[in-house]
Parts: sequence; C-alpha cells; structure tokens
Amino acid sequence: MVQASIHERQYRPDGVVSHPSAIDAALQQILHRQMEAEVCQALGIDNLSQAYESGKLDILQGHTGTYVVSTMPESQLNRDIHFPVSRAFDVFRRKPVVLKKAGFSVPDIAEKIEYEARVLSTGFQRTNHVVKRVDYVAGESPIVVMEYVGSPHYEHMPAGVFSAGQVIQYGQSLITGAYKLARSGIIVQDAKPDNVTFATDGSLFSKWIDFADARLVGDKREFYFPGTAEWMNPETAGQHLQTLKSLFYTLTSILYFKVTDENFLLSHLPINGNIYDIYNPNMLQLVQKIHFDPQASNEQLRRYCQQNGLHYDQVASFFAWALNPEYSTRFETSDGITTPPNQELTAADMERIYDNYIKMLNRAFRPSRRTRLRHKLLAMASKLVR
Ligand SMILES: Nc1ncnc2c1ncn2[C@@H]1O[C@H](COP(=O)(O)OP(=O)(O)OP(=O)(O)O)[C@@H](O)[C@H]1O
Ligand SMILES: [Mg+2]
Repeated sequence: MVQASIHERQYRPDGVVSHPSAIDAALQQILHRQMEAEVCQALGIDNLSQAYESGKLDILQGHTGTYVVSTMPESQLNRDIHFPVSRAFDVFRRKPVVLKKAGFSVPDIAEKIEYEARVLSTGFQRTNHVVKRVDYVAGESPIVVMEYVGSPHYEHMPAGVFSAGQVIQYGQSLITGAYKLARSGIIVQDAKPDNVTFATDGSLFSKWIDFADARLVGDKREFYFPGTAEWMNPETAGQHLQTLKSLFYTLTSILYFKVTDENFLLSHLPINGNIYDIYNPNMLQLVQKIHFDPQASNEQLRRYCQQNGLHYDQVASFFAWALNPEYSTRFETSDGITTPPNQELTAADMERIYDNYIKMLNRAFRPSRRTRLRHKLLAMASKLVR
C-alpha cells in the first residue's frame, strides 16, 4: 500500500512539479477513492508504492487538474528525448492522460510544444476525431496534457489483415478526421501511422495526435516540414504548400500499406538500404512523379483482391486515381474542375474533394455481389445452427 506521507522533494528542472504536499494530497485521493489499480494501469507500472518509495512518482499541478506521472521507463510511450510522451493519470477526473513535454529547455523545442498546445485549443476540438487537450503548463519546458487515446494502429493490427469493410471503415475515419481538421484551418503535415491512434475500445475509429508539425492556415510562421521519409507526398518532396489533397495522398498510401503490406513510395523507388536516401534531390524528384500503374503485376494487391472478393480493376483504379502525383487533377471527378498548386483550398473545394474520396473509396472496396451473397448465406446458416 502506498503510504501517503510527506516526502521532502524539490521542483525538478524538467517542469514536473514534485511538490511534497501535492504528492501527498494526490496520494490521499488515490487511496481514499481506491484507484491504485487504475493508476498503475494508466502509468503502465506494476506497483505504485514501489514507484513512490523509489522517488519515481511525480505530480504535475496543472490549471485544470492534478496529474500523477511516473518517471519509470515503462511509463514513457516514445523514445524521443526531445519530446518525451509519458502516460499519466488525472486524479480528479479519474482518467488516463498523457503528458507531452519539451525534453530540454531549448527555445525551438519549447516553441513546438507551445504551438501544439495552441493548435489543440482551436475550435476543432469539438470533433471526436482528434485528441482532446486537457491542460497546458507553460514554462521553460512546457507540458501539454492530453486524453489518452489508445495506441498507434499497427500495434493492434498487423498490415495486410484488413477486410474490405475494415478498409472502408478505417479509411473513412482517417479521411473524415483530416477533413474536419482542414475545415477548421489545421493541415496535418506529418501524417503517418504513428500519429493516428485506434480508439481504446479496439474499434477502427481513429484519432489524430501529434500536432507539432501541423500547419495553421493563415499563420505567418514558416511551415515547411520535410516529412517523414516513407510517408511523403509529392508536395512535401517538391517543397510546395501541403493542403488537404496532399494529406489525402499520404492517407491513401497508408491504406495501400494496410492492404498490400508494401510501402507505396519505397516499393517504387530505387532505395537500397538507407531510407534517408529519399532526401537526396534526385529521389525527391522521383517522388513527385511516381504513378500507380494498374497494368503492372501488383501481385500483393491482386492477391488481396482475390482473397477478399474484390474486383482488382476497381481497386487498382482507385489507387491510380488517389495516388496521382499531379496535384491539380488529383481527386477530381470528370467535371473538369482542377485546383492549382500552392494555393489554399476553399471550403467548397475541400467538401467536393472529401465527397469524391469517400464515394470512390466505397466503390472500390465494396465486395462483389457474389461475395456479398456468400456472406449473407453464411450469416443465415450460422443463425440456423444457433
Ligand atoms: N494522446 C495520446 N494517447 C495515447 N498515446 C499517445 C498520445 N499522444 C502520444 N502518444 C504516443 O506517443 C507517441 C509519440 O507521440 P507524438 O507522436 O505526439 O510525439 P513525437 O514527438 O512525434 O514522438 P515520436 O518522434 O516518437 O513520434 C505516439 O506515437 C503514441 O504512441
Ligand atoms: Mg509522432
């Protein structure tokens, strides 16, 4: 059992407040409300009293709550020393949260956390496709507190195991989140599987996290972000403005990965071994030109379609449509509308592109009539057996 006694501690330089009376009060609460198991689970540790006795338990006193955080390695969710993300527990709301902080008191790093907190305080917080900001503690090493929203997707779902229905569900969730963010003036620039989590209930509902490299439309800041190598899009590679179209391209490459187990860019580039070769100018030029060719062998995709009762031609033409390197025509239908590069999209453009995308995704991954009939018969048969 945790002894809620007062231990002499100091404020630590990393910004987490270890005030003795704060720890004491929080522990009293935990004991009184019998929350030890919940706290351990949230922090990812086995024993709260051990953490406490060995001085590994801290309290962050925020503006809207008090958070218990452990400094045990098990409690850290990433290995990034610049922006360590730790599991924590919100004592009064009785909920798991995460703390993301500037690992060093270096202006650039602190600025990114401040910026992320700012992005997270804009209007889009009403959508449930985005992590909720819970608190923010300014200082030399600022800390943003967010709700805990499950793990990034590949921990739960190995690539290639998505059924056609799941591709639609997951794709819609990703696309809708990105669209709602864009409509609120936030363009995600670092879309990749690590920055989208699955809901804690294990469903395919995804939530966006990590807004340190997002772009606030209309903000005067220098926003160029070099991108994460394997999830680049043609606009990142060409140092053009990233818009919702760029983001949808990257999200399509995530879906491509989910069904083929192949990274679209890497499987089309002559990269041997060192992924950072992608940043050399010749390679960046190639990234701006890669096409998905439906006529190519695309063995993995053909196999996936066969196993899931999908028409290869339909699925392949979806990928050719969505992984179109030509910015102005990407995602447009045959009505002749095009959007010029390096300009913000209007709300009407975004809505049209979003609607087109959802329609095309559903059309591509809708199983054939034969497969649907087979599923229906199987469902009826299993009902009869029961
Ligand atoms: N709100 C959250 N709920 C659950 N897990 C989270 C949350 N925020 C972050 N994480 C976890 O921490 C990891 C890193 O967080 P984030 O992406 O915000 O920071 P980062 O600076 O990009 O770190 P990294 O360089 O390791 O990706 C995520 O990939 C995820 O595993
Ligand atoms: Mg990240």
